[in-house]
Amino acid sequence: MRHLMSPLDFTVEELEKLFCLAVEMEKDPDKYAHLCDRKKLATLFYEPSTRTRLSFETAMLNLGGSVIGFADASSSSVSKGESVADTIRVISCFADIAAMRHPKEGAPMVAAANSSIPVINAGDGGHQHPTQTLTDLLTIRALKGHLGNMTVGLCGDLKFGRTVHSLINALVRYEGIRFVFISPEELKVPDYITDMLKEKNIPYEEVIRLEDRIGDLDLLYMTRVQKERFFNEEDYIRLKDFYILDKAKMELAPEKMLVLHPLPRVNEISVDVDDDPRAVYFKQVQYGMYVRMALIATLLELV
Ligand code: CP
Repeated sequence: MRHLMSPLDFTVEELEKLFCLAVEMEKDPDKYAHLCDRKKLATLFYEPSTRTRLSFETAMLNLGGSVIGFADASSSSVSKGESVADTIRVISCFADIAAMRHPKEGAPMVAAANSSIPVINAGDGGHQHPTQTLTDLLTIRALKGHLGNMTVGLCGDLKFGRTVHSLINALVRYEGIRFVFISPEELKVPDYITDMLKEKNIPYEEVIRLEDRIGDLDLLYMTRVQKERFFNEEDYIRLKDFYILDKAKMELAPEKMLVLHPLPRVNEISVDVDDDPRAVYFKQVQYGMYVRMALIATLLELV
């Protein structure tokens, strides 16, 4: 039995197989419409979500399976003090696979260690968000045609943004990746990430102004300032609108640069950018559903 805790749990070859399956599922949905007949997915969300939970649930329904779970831990026995370990032992009696989001880093790992069904980390605190990374990689692969040899700009909250940490970890496994980290001083990418990049000799720079480097990017990954991870409201208010990608800044960007965002967006991308063909964040959501279909089928060993 296999879990997914980090994007690195799959080799590059396994990821390629997963992406091919996701593409096939998109092209021929009828072929997979009954793959998960009689199987159940449990979505255990201890933290708010729109995309991740609903795309997991849609993915399972598209495969012919069904869904149980909770979207709000306060409506479950967690509110009475039940541990993650006990919850997953119980869920293992009902479901065939579980996706868990939790505000505490490592909680899905605790679940996996106590589970008799595959557990997927659907985001743990400021740590990892592996299925968002699968979504991002599939989007890049589909729209750029490859995953290596590009300059990737990551902009915004690079300190608390778990999608950023997971994506960097995943991209370093491809040839010719260069990073430009664009953030205010307070929201810089953590040292453990830059230490890893130095160790692997992956080129990166850290800059403050988006305008200075947007013209050099193949891909711009915008992120929201993560309000829920701040200890101090004043700091959040000071930093929340530090970056706003608008039409004027897009004019400085290359014609083929893609703009991705894990969403939800707050103010960091102006809505007037949405019609720009380079803005692919809503397409990204669709790829997320297909890659989750492929992931569920793979972890259940049905393909
Ligand atoms: N991208 C993402 O994780 O969105 P949700 O928080 O809505 O699931």
